[in-house]
Amino acid sequence: MQLVLLGAPGSGKGTQGARLAQRFGIRHVSSGELLRRQVAEKSDLGRQVRDCLRRGELVPDDLVLAIVGDALVGAVKAGGYVLDGIPRTLAQAERAYELARPAGLGADAVVYLDVADDVARERLAARAGAGRVDDADPAVIERRLQVFHADTGPLLDFYRARGILIEIDGARPSDAVSRAISDALARPGFSK
Ligand code: AP5
Repeated sequence: MQLVLLGAPGSGKGTQGARLAQRFGIRHVSSGELLRRQVAEKSDLGRQVRDCLRRGELVPDDLVLAIVGDALVGAVKAGGYVLDGIPRTLAQAERAYELARPAGLGADAVVYLDVADDVARERLAARAGAGRVDDADPAVIERRLQVFHADTGPLLDFYRARGILIEIDGARPSDAVSRAISDALARPGFSK
C-alpha cells in the first residue's frame, strides 16, 4: 500500500499517518520529522534547512530529496508507505512521478485532510510549547498557512486528474477522521 497525505499545517497528517502506518503495516515517512531530525543532529544538511523550518518556508527540493530519499527507498523495500508532507508542491509531485516508477514508488491513493484555517490555528496554538519551533510564533504559523494555500490547489488538481484523490473532512475528532479514511480506502478502486 502506498499512500500520500495532504493537508494544511495542523490538519492531522502526522496523527493519521501514524495510524495508517500501523493499520496497514507500512512505514510512516514524514518529511517534516526527517528534516527536524537533521536539524537536531546538527548535520550539514540540518544546518542548511534550519532557517527554512524556523521561518515556515519550504526547504529547496534538492535538499528535501537528499534527506527523504533513503527513507522512501527503504519503505518501498519494506512493503509500502504513507507519505506525510511530501510531495508538497506540484513541482515535487511531477518530479516524483517521473522518478517514481522505475524505483517502485507511486501512490494508490492521496488523502486530503480538509480543515479551515481557524481549526489549524487552534490546533497549532494548542501544541505551542511542545517543542516545535515553527509552532511557537503565530507569524510563522500564518506563513505556513500561506505557503500551503499557494501550493495546494494545483497539487489537488494534479491528483484529482489521476483519479486517486480522496477528500476528507479533517475538522472532526481524530477517530472520526480515521474511520472516514478507512471507509474511503475500502471503496472499490482504492481497496488493496
Ligand atoms: P511538516 O512537519 O510537514 O509540518 P506541517 O505541514 O506544518 O504540519 P504539522 O506537522 O504541523 O501538522 P499535521 O498536519 O501533521 O498535523 P498533526 O497530526 O501534527 O513540515 C514542517 C516544515 O518542514 C515545513 O514548514 C517546511 O519548512 C518543511 N518541509 C516539510 N516537508 C517539506 C517538503 N516536502 N518540501 C519542502 N519543505 C518541507 O496535528 C497537529 C495538532 O493537532 C496535534 O497537536 C494533534 O494532536 C492535533 N490533532 C490532529 N488531528 C486532530 C483532530 N482530528 N482533532 C483535534 N486535534 C487534532
